[in-house]
Amino acid sequence: MVFVELDQEPRFDFGTLLAGGDGLDRRARWLAYAPHLHEPLEVTLAQLAVLEAVPRDDGVALDALRQRFEPSVVDPLVEAGLLVTGHNLDARASACDAAARRVPWWPPALLAQASGGWDGIDIEARHEAGLMPTAAQLVDTNGPAPAQECLRRPDAAPCALATPRRHDFDRLLAQRRTCRNFDPAAALSAAELGTMLHRVWGAVGTRELAPGAVAVKKTSPAGGGLHATEAYLLVQRAEGLAPGLYHYLPMQHALEPLQVLDAADAAAMVHRFLAGQYWFADVPVLVVMTARFDRLFWKYRRHAKAWRVVHLDVGHLSQTMYLSAADLGLGAFVTAAINDREIEPALGLAPLQEAAIAIVGFGARSHAPTHIELDGLTPTPAALAADGA
Ligand SMILES: Cc1cc2nc3c(=O)[nH]c(=O)nc-3n(C[C@H](O)[C@H](O)[C@H](O)COP(=O)(O)O)c2cc1C
Repeated sequence: MVFVELDQEPRFDFGTLLAGGDGLDRRARWLAYAPHLHEPLEVTLAQLAVLEAVPRDDGVALDALRQRFEPSVVDPLVEAGLLVTGHNLDARASACDAAARRVPWWPPALLAQASGGWDGIDIEARHEAGLMPTAAQLVDTNGPAPAQECLRRPDAAPCALATPRRHDFDRLLAQRRTCRNFDPAAALSAAELGTMLHRVWGAVGTRELAPGAVAVKKTSPAGGGLHATEAYLLVQRAEGLAPGLYHYLPMQHALEPLQVLDAADAAAMVHRFLAGQYWFADVPVLVVMTARFDRLFWKYRRHAKAWRVVHLDVGHLSQTMYLSAADLGLGAFVTAAINDREIEPALGLAPLQEAAIAIVGFGARSHAPTHIELDGLTPTPAALAADGA
């Protein structure tokens, strides 16, 4: 499967600079993307004609292609892996190619999933190099953010609403916040871990809809009743568990041990998984949420909304996790800034069949916070009215 982009973005070009120009190459070019390649490849129209001549599943003799189109046109496609010969792809690329053929992806979602992965991103290193913009620098570069309230009818008076009532649930909601300051000495107790895992990712019950089709019930909704999200734990400090990687079994409410790690290796893995977000380093337990595309797309085959469902499912689980942590008095966070391409081999996930979508973490808060959290708020009039009611 190949996707082609007409790229007209000016790009830096050293050759133009040396020739006395402004250092920008403004030529339009065709970029070819394939699900098994990390980077797009610049191709010519003549090379697109070669791809057009190759049936996706049957294959043709390479020599015949070279005779028909010239080796200089065909060979770069083989070298880059855009033409698959059976021995020019590494194991990961082969697995991606096979999954792209087997799993019924909606093609634009496949392109986004295959192209959007990270590896080697280290936000701490970027921060130390002064490459992370502050809020003020963002405003300088991008102008002010679009307004926080978006008026569609500025000419019409808004309809006032009743003052919100306050109940126990509001107190829980008020306690929910993103924690970036975990206690480096505290371990998660066995009761806290068991409660968090069962409340958020555990199955409550099942119902057989037809032989071979079992709907699962959890505390969060999930598209198609399929609950295609898996939970993998990276444990640093939890009562009764060695540091390491585990997989949660939602039906049995138990953990499959995957890999034992020493404390230093577990800390290094936390840093890599979280793309160097050092403010989360002291969290005792991370949960990597992965999507099983093969399970969701079993029902939603080549479906234009199914990839959206993947992210909505994970978002719902994340909010349930935040509320459960708030109820237990624990700090919690979610992040999508993850080195997913490093996580997938570490967890042994089959590429483009199952992938890491987001990571959450939870544990005791630090008593000496140093990293920013969203507090010191200016309350809105509606919140003040509700508090006074
Ligand atoms: C989808 C999503 C991704 C997020 N990614 C990050 C992240 O990469 N790093 C981080 O420190 N916080 C992350 N957050 C937390 C937000 O920054 C946080 O929710 C926001 O600042 C509001 O603060 P609150 O959660 O305390 O209300 C993320 C939140 C969501 C919902």
